[in-house]
Amino acid sequence: MREFGFVKKVSAIENAEALDPAVRRVKGIVDTVVQPQDVRDLLHGVPVGHAVHPVAVLLPIGAWIGSAILDFVPGSRAASRVLVGVGVAGVLPSVVTGLTDWSELHEQQQRVGLVHAASNTVATALYAASFVQRTRGHHTSGRVLGLVGLAAVGLSGYLGGHLAYRQAAAVNHAEDVPHRFPVGWRHLGAVDEFVVDEPALRTVDGVPLLVVRNTVGLDVLANTCSHLSAPLNEGQLVVADGERCIVCPWHGSVFALRTGEVVHGPATAPQPRFESRVTDGSIEVMLEGAG
Ligand code: FES
Repeated sequence: MREFGFVKKVSAIENAEALDPAVRRVKGIVDTVVQPQDVRDLLHGVPVGHAVHPVAVLLPIGAWIGSAILDFVPGSRAASRVLVGVGVAGVLPSVVTGLTDWSELHEQQQRVGLVHAASNTVATALYAASFVQRTRGHHTSGRVLGLVGLAAVGLSGYLGGHLAYRQAAAVNHAEDVPHRFPVGWRHLGAVDEFVVDEPALRTVDGVPLLVVRNTVGLDVLANTCSHLSAPLNEGQLVVADGERCIVCPWHGSVFALRTGEVVHGPATAPQPRFESRVTDGSIEVMLEGAG
């Protein structure tokens, strides 16, 4: 079976440059308003290890689907109205988390994300109008507005799926490393090749590695940023929270060299960290759990 024709239309949004002025305007607002970095980290989901937006959408979507079902159950008008109101009132966390993640995506992802957000805005407006109508006793128009709102939510959900599963937004781009790297110790190079505190790129068995020599040894991480695949060897070394870290050159995620852990987002998944040993000036690396 081949994909439906409308999938090509959705994919075309990725290259719709007409959306770029709006993308820039909204991103400017999000970057200004959502501060400081610790708040951004929380909204990205750094403490829980992946994006929190999918959890935040549960309340409005769940409430609105519940309302749609109750609209067909006799004697459930009051309960259905409550669910519509709960959904509208519960929209804010999904908006804030979604926009914060969206502000650190590639431009093709941001174009699709903008339409996703617009669709959600339309849905919320329809449900707010539905709540007002139901409160006034106009239940038929309240139900119709709710069902049209649910269609907008469905479209938005499809676009969210396109973002996550087709465009790989908010997923771990370093997840494949343990599957690709062979089991056991592998030769990396000679110690003399590396300059202290100078990030270097080496490829071992087809896997790009970030190598940073320090005064007592080496730190070796997967070089492909877990956020959106930037080459970390082009990043800057800094000290953050008392740790030597590498800052991603694309969106500024900060990873601890000692552990590979995320110190600051937008990345939420750690960088795979390699063990290293030196024998007669020759470096070998090994990844626990590889293969
Ligand atoms: S690619 Fe986005 S922070 Fe590294």
